[in-house]
Amino acid sequence: MAVPLFNLARQRIKTPSLHEAMRQGALRVLDHQEFILGREVLSFEQEVEHACLESTLLGSEVCALHASHEKPHAIGVSSGTDGLLALLIASDIGPGDAVITTPYTFFATAGCIHRVGAEIIFCDIDPMTYMMDPEKLEILLSSFQRDQEGVLKSPNGNRVKMIIPIHLFGTCCDMDAILSIAQEYGLLVIEDAAQVLGADYPSMHGPKKAGAIAKMSYFSFYPTKNLGAAGDAGLAVTLDPKVAQRLRVIRNHGMEERYYHQIVGGNFRLDAMQAAILRVRLPFLEEWNAGRRANAALYKKAFVQANLLDYIVLPYEPWAASGLKNHHIFHQYVVRIVGSAQNGPRAGLREKIMTHFTQHEIGHAIYYPVPLHLQECFAYLGYEQGDFPESERAAQETLALPIFPELYPEEINSVVDVIKEAIKDESSS
Ligand SMILES: Cc1ncc(COP(=O)(O)O)c(C=O)c1O
Repeated sequence: MAVPLFNLARQRIKTPSLHEAMRQGALRVLDHQEFILGREVLSFEQEVEHACLESTLLGSEVCALHASHEKPHAIGVSSGTDGLLALLIASDIGPGDAVITTPYTFFATAGCIHRVGAEIIFCDIDPMTYMMDPEKLEILLSSFQRDQEGVLKSPNGNRVKMIIPIHLFGTCCDMDAILSIAQEYGLLVIEDAAQVLGADYPSMHGPKKAGAIAKMSYFSFYPTKNLGAAGDAGLAVTLDPKVAQRLRVIRNHGMEERYYHQIVGGNFRLDAMQAAILRVRLPFLEEWNAGRRANAALYKKAFVQANLLDYIVLPYEPWAASGLKNHHIFHQYVVRIVGSAQNGPRAGLREKIMTHFTQHEIGHAIYYPVPLHLQECFAYLGYEQGDFPESERAAQETLALPIFPELYPEEINSVVDVIKEAIKDESSS
């Protein structure tokens, strides 16, 4: 049975009213003609703050814990990447600064650090979660020296200023540990929340929404995201009203009053048409996230029944014990094919499974095949193969399976059957 990796057309079949509402949203913009910023962008910002960022939805006792100055402010931007760029500019990150992030991820994070002229420092991942390992972060930071003024310096002499942990595949990093390390070393933190809109995190202060845990974060609405736009779109988020104001100015070329520029910003504005579409789609996010969770549960059942857990490591759910419904929203369903990167009987098993997938027309992808420290454009950083072994192993052993909400249960069984067939084939050859 052919199974697509992702299929937006099924949304249209399952919910025809959604497609019609999106058309109406687009027509509304054509009618009122507020194409740049204006009412659609402002309304979307308020709606997404309420629906996805305010922890009050997680329980009234949490509400009391949140002082009003901790209210999340959402600023619509042109993409997740531009959201990060705006946040880095707002935080005055530039030449002479160093920013720490992980190498097993999408390019955008490290790309933006480079673009503002700062030094990229990588920290390896935890092999279970595929996200920043707080122990490795602590070891890395403790290896840096302070200068005479007490400024923490990288080995290249840059001022270590910020950490960007990346919430991968639908669940959050160990943010309590990362924030406490950041506090110990006096570092800023931006959450890369591109993949986790609507996810919950059980912080030591009570449940929080992903993207409202640190003081700053950003989201992506790339069409394949859990909440996708009809093109590129993103969101920058901050708990600090002053930073929020700065971000609004930065996204509009650094001008508050037209043609007077206090800061060098850029054209990072969220398009009004995209905002109108996102407003229509936002109320469906909860249902779509539930669909992804249900599919993950079906995969788990099928892998257990097929007796494959010796070969396949299922996505780890670090916050499952919290009881929070959206502790994982499965933006991707990434499994590890154990031992396929090593010399031995399972060498190349991932590639074998991919060949079987291709034969059966089963969509799949590798997120991410080349860790960022080994990318050609970052060769100047001087990193080498072997520097971040867990990121390198993850790049060689992981495989993303279809997980979009409208997947049919028989398709999930078919994916698992094909994996079983490939493994049987391999062990009998
Ligand atoms: C982890 C991560 N960070 C950043 C981005 C960049 O977002 P955008 O594509 O909206 O610029 C993405 C998008 O794919 C992502 O997955």
